[in-house]
Amino acid sequence: MSGIVRYYQNRTRTPGQMITDKDDAPLAPDTPQASGTPLTHDAPQALNDTLFRLTRAVLFKMDPERAHDIALRAASHSIVKSINRKRYATNGSAVTCMGLDLPNCVGLAAGLDKNGDYIDALGAMGFGFIEIGTITPKPQQGNPQPRLFRLKEHNALINRMGFNNMGVDHLVKQAEKRQFKGCLGINIGKNASTAIDDAENDYLTCLEKVYASADYITVNVSSPNTQGLRDLQHGERLRSLLDCLKNAQSNLATRHGQYKPVVVKIAPDMSDAELSEFCTTVLEFEIDGVIAGNTTSERSMVAGSQHANESGGLSGAPIRALADDRMAVVATQLDGKAALIGVGGIFSGGHAALKRQLGADLVQLYTGLIYHGPALVRDCIRKTT
Ligand SMILES: Cc1cc2nc3c(=O)[nH]c(=O)nc-3n(C[C@H](O)[C@H](O)[C@H](O)COP(=O)(O)O)c2cc1C
Repeated sequence: MSGIVRYYQNRTRTPGQMITDKDDAPLAPDTPQASGTPLTHDAPQALNDTLFRLTRAVLFKMDPERAHDIALRAASHSIVKSINRKRYATNGSAVTCMGLDLPNCVGLAAGLDKNGDYIDALGAMGFGFIEIGTITPKPQQGNPQPRLFRLKEHNALINRMGFNNMGVDHLVKQAEKRQFKGCLGINIGKNASTAIDDAENDYLTCLEKVYASADYITVNVSSPNTQGLRDLQHGERLRSLLDCLKNAQSNLATRHGQYKPVVVKIAPDMSDAELSEFCTTVLEFEIDGVIAGNTTSERSMVAGSQHANESGGLSGAPIRALADDRMAVVATQLDGKAALIGVGGIFSGGHAALKRQLGADLVQLYTGLIYHGPALVRDCIRKTT
């Protein structure tokens, strides 16, 4: 067990008193919630949620990556989009964050729509904002398959996709075609073939190219699947990256006549001291916000599971306590001086509401959507309204 996990398990913390044992328990796969039954029990929604449950049973028999592709393609069909819009688009409370007006505070986390091919299909599920990417300057294939694993008994995934994407030019074309009325975040990274010492050039290239089409831009320095990337979260490398991105943001704001917020996405595997140093740097360079956080390299919470030893990042229900704990530390450090987006392990509206209580301005989810479908988005919007 790593120091960090021992730390968050043993820690006596004031905000943590709001996290009860019940909240922390991962949903068992045979509970009605985990099998896709509506998280809120409105009779007219029952048919749709049963349909989701049946679809999920079929998809979960397939290879996970293939199932994701099929599900996204199906969700893009105009009939499915219109059903989703009717069933799942819930009126949430509008929020303003980093100067952006969002229809609600619930967003899709990066990685599900890496190329921006499914923005409107995902928007039909009710999200207030959608983050596409991670995108890199040049297209790249990512790691060899298999690279995505389901840990069904834990409601979790392990992935080592390695930024498989079609390159920034393709993504920009897709983003420009969108009809989605919520906000669009574009998450940027570096190509695997770019040395870590040259990473700044890749981030700058992406920032310049996506600036006009994004509502905000996320700098991903926390994927565990690109060698050396997480080094950019610390010390001089972080300072130099944020310095050059901040200058570029300022020049782009002048050129385009519009300021677009830049946020940095971090790993939940950072110690208190590392988070403190990170947040000080973020505030020094006047970065607009932080996303806490990405997948974890930790495995103690899924030890013994069939795929527990696969390399990559773990996401989903088992990482929620860790993600909440690390995010609460960031909230204290930022003290409201930069925006905070909370991600990791949201499987119910209550979890989303708790992240807000712990200091998140906005929340995002990914793995919960795979296990619960759009009913989860609706539940999160209702519980955070
Ligand atoms: C298959 C998969 C691919 C992901 N790809 C990215 C990515 O490209 N960029 C990124 O910033 N985060 C990526 N993530 C991390 C998610 O955005 C999110 O931070 C993480 O999964 C924790 O949230 P969750 O527990 O709700 O899934 C990915 C996650 C998964 C499961």
